[in-house]
Amino acid sequence: SNYETITVEQRDAVTLITLNRPQALNALNSKVLEELIEALAAYQADASQLCAVLTGSGDKAFAAGADIKEMSEKAAADFYLDDFFSPWTSEIVKKTRKPWIAAVNGFALGGGCELAMMADFIIASENAKFGQPEIKLGVAPGMGGSQRLTRAIGKSKAMEMCLTGRMMGAEEAERSNLVARVVPHDSLLDEAMKTAAQIAAMPPMAAIANKEMVNAAFETSLDQGLIVERRIFQILTASEDKQEGMAAFIEKREGKWKGR
Ligand code: HXC
Repeated sequence: SNYETITVEQRDAVTLITLNRPQALNALNSKVLEELIEALAAYQADASQLCAVLTGSGDKAFAAGADIKEMSEKAAADFYLDDFFSPWTSEIVKKTRKPWIAAVNGFALGGGCELAMMADFIIASENAKFGQPEIKLGVAPGMGGSQRLTRAIGKSKAMEMCLTGRMMGAEEAERSNLVARVVPHDSLLDEAMKTAAQIAAMPPMAAIANKEMVNAAFETSLDQGLIVERRIFQILTASEDKQEGMAAFIEKREGKWKGR
């Protein structure tokens, strides 16, 4: 690939994206964020790719945050005029309609924690450490942390994390519903890729639809969300993959998916 700060690899139907600035604990500078947007868009556009995994290179970090050295040189006017971080707070997440998983292999701090929370779910290594330490730098989360962390773990814990800047380990993160699963450090990538392959083997349109429904739970009232769910369910019943999936079950064989 032509990227400088990330690597992208396709393994069958799974795209593996790796943040690749280990010397800076994969801190997210403008280049990383730009390349990540490109890689996610390429994943979304490639019909052969059905699930993605995002992880960090090196043994220590998923991403230790937005790049503090870069941010230290910017004036408030730059942040405001460039609407810094704006593509990330919702646009990228909405444009990536296909599923993606964050495999958190170490520090996920500040923007790193926020990036992990944008994924559809997080699988964490036993060494993972989550935090929103921005307050210590005189700032605050800027890529969705105050909103997504609060929705994930509730007000009390999110408030404590943001106000003290403390880190949360993997065990607490699982107990708090921030992560779907914790696995031994050495098997993190295997486990994440295996889970991604499992998702990639599902009827692809149904995967998009399942994701869309669950995400609707964050945006709507229960009544509205239930309508979204029923309508998407009803649309899926018209798909070729529904015919195939139910026929395959009845005939006791594996389904062959068309993705429509
Ligand atoms: C730039 C970073 C960085 C970051 C680490 N590095 N985090 N560079 N931005 N966010 C660099 C260090 O400067 C150092 O480079 C190298 O990575 C290794 O880091 P060390 O600190 O030496 O490692 P260690 O002692 O093991 O400590 C690990 C750590 C610590 C606890 C994760 O690095 C840390 O606290 N990092 C900052 C975490 C943080 O505050 N993140 C939030 C950022 S703000 P050199 O060249 O010195 O070896 C944010 C959103 C802001 O994300 C939104 C509002 C605008």
